[in-house]
Amino acid sequence: MNTPPKAELHVHIEGTLEPEMVFALARRNDIALPHESVADLRAKYEFADLQSFLDIYYANMAVLRTAADFRDLAAAYLDRCAAHGVRHAEIFFDPQAHLKRGVAMETVIGGLCAALDDSEVSASLILCFLRDESAESAAEALRLAEPFLDRIVGVGLDSAEVGHPPSKFTEVFRRAHELGLRAVAHAGEEGPPEYVREALDLLGVQRIDHGIRALEDPELVERLRREQIPLTVCPLSNVRLGAFAELGHHTLPRLLEHGLLVTVNSDDPAYFGGYADENFDAVRRELGLTPEQLRTLAANSFRASFLDEDGKAAFL
Ligand code: ADE
Ligand code: ZN
Repeated sequence: MNTPPKAELHVHIEGTLEPEMVFALARRNDIALPHESVADLRAKYEFADLQSFLDIYYANMAVLRTAADFRDLAAAYLDRCAAHGVRHAEIFFDPQAHLKRGVAMETVIGGLCAALDDSEVSASLILCFLRDESAESAAEALRLAEPFLDRIVGVGLDSAEVGHPPSKFTEVFRRAHELGLRAVAHAGEEGPPEYVREALDLLGVQRIDHGIRALEDPELVERLRREQIPLTVCPLSNVRLGAFAELGHHTLPRLLEHGLLVTVNSDDPAYFGGYADENFDAVRRELGLTPEQLRTLAANSFRASFLDEDGKAAFL
């Protein structure tokens, strides 16, 4: 089915690295892989939880070495957007994962921007800090990104959530706000509702990525509704990482019924079985969402974006 035009607000560019591209880039960069074939690699994509996914996600990134690699990765994602009704994308990237392998910030951002500049899809970048690294490492990443701030719309917070509360990153988010950047954070994916509150109150984020565990806290749900804080929900990701046993159990309909500003996104589509349109199709099929609810989700994606009011009006 054709879903309506939409924006994608929660996609990690490194999570769009398809197994075929892992092999192609490994060949191009003369890197030996510990997998026999594309099928062998894909067979390893059975995840018990977030950490078991992150282990493979970071390992596969070893093939991304040059600006051309980052360009080709982003170009492939944007081509898919163009073909599947995603008109605007706010794309996460994880510079600390590349810096620690000796890949320069300029290589990463330069490569990604070459693809963005060449695409008919409207797109911007969100620099994510790895919450399982130190606050000092995050501050250093932001410092290294300062020459490229005209190419970055905001900062985010991702990687292993439990045990790494938003409060650890108060200072670097304060600096990001000072620099005029927007802010988002993964919270309530595996971590408790308290992390969602901290992201709002201590980091000053304008959107919550995932946020599914907010439902455990009625007062928090009421606040998210009252303040219309967007939640960038990723249905196929939540199933593949074990938050729900099957898509039919996903709480997306409850979030909508509470009047929350929910969007549907792919997170790491090369790993979780589908891009944005496939997530839309899956929730329509498995959760019985009405055409009206699907239109609301698509409109929410533009409303929750960091486009200016004219930009939103052009899409809505
Ligand atoms: N990095 C890439 N995908 C992620 C996810 N789903 N949660 C946290 N960090 C991530
Ligand atoms: Zn994510």
